[in-house]
Amino acid sequence: MIYYYSGCGNSRFVAKSLSEALGEELRFIPDLIDKGIKEFDCEGGLLGFVFPVYAWNVPTLVRDFIKNACWKGKPEYVWFACTCGDNIGFTDREFRKIMASVSLELNACFTFQMPETYLCFPGFSLDTEENAKLKNDAVKEKISIVADQIRNKQTVLDLIPGKHPWINTHIIGSLFKLTISDSAFHTTDDCIGCGVCERSCPVHNITMEIQKPSSEGGQDGQMKETVVKRPKWNGNCLQCMACYHYCPKNAVQYGRLTAGKGQYYFK
Ligand SMILES: Cc1cc2nc3c(=O)[nH]c(=O)nc-3n(C[C@H](O)[C@H](O)[C@H](O)COP(=O)(O)O)c2cc1C
Repeated sequence: MIYYYSGCGNSRFVAKSLSEALGEELRFIPDLIDKGIKEFDCEGGLLGFVFPVYAWNVPTLVRDFIKNACWKGKPEYVWFACTCGDNIGFTDREFRKIMASVSLELNACFTFQMPETYLCFPGFSLDTEENAKLKNDAVKEKISIVADQIRNKQTVLDLIPGKHPWINTHIIGSLFKLTISDSAFHTTDDCIGCGVCERSCPVHNITMEIQKPSSEGGQDGQMKETVVKRPKWNGNCLQCMACYHYCPKNAVQYGRLTAGKGQYYFK
């Protein structure tokens, strides 16, 4: 079984590819949370987790999901694969602590460097198209190697800790978490009210709300009221950036920090 979370599709691609290569069932963590499913039988099998690195750590949603669940039985082999834009700090150590808290032992960690998705700080930008392609091509090649290692139940520490991993995970990452907020998300006049942002949000934090009814002349000369809907962010955001990247009009923006920075999601 593979449990995964993804905002912009990078981790979804890795999870799906590994699930196909290994013949393992795939389950999307936000769906399980929505359905209130908390008991999992992992006796004797492979138990895998795939997620993006957020602030050199395991995303809170993944951490809480694992800690709040009941993992029944003893799996034969436990692994995780994380995707990151750059490096993961001590994500592996944090994940190992989460596993220990639910009495599971980790056998292998894998890291996939993929295109960057986070843009909400000054100075943060996307990979160039060329670099994004290079990263994704390398990931596609690496999938079968990782699948073999998992199939053979190898002990693997495939990590990209980067420089100063302790400071990044424990100091900068903790400060970063305090800045997570959706209050700066808004739409520009290019928004067409299509609702893609609402549907792309993995935690249903966006609702489409009637903004202002406007009156227009119809073909018959009668005034008709058109309903204009716009997204509203409801304060339970992971800052996964899906609403921003999937918007077909690039109309979702975060304060002034995302203007002109372009969009990316895994295609
Ligand atoms: C909130 C947030 C925090 C991130 N933090 C890191 C990080 O600490 N290190 C890193 O290399 N990439 C970081 N990234 C980039 C993502 O980990 C990377 O682009 C990942 O592949 C996105 O996966 P997804 O498409 O499945 O959501 C961050 C992205 C987001 C949205």
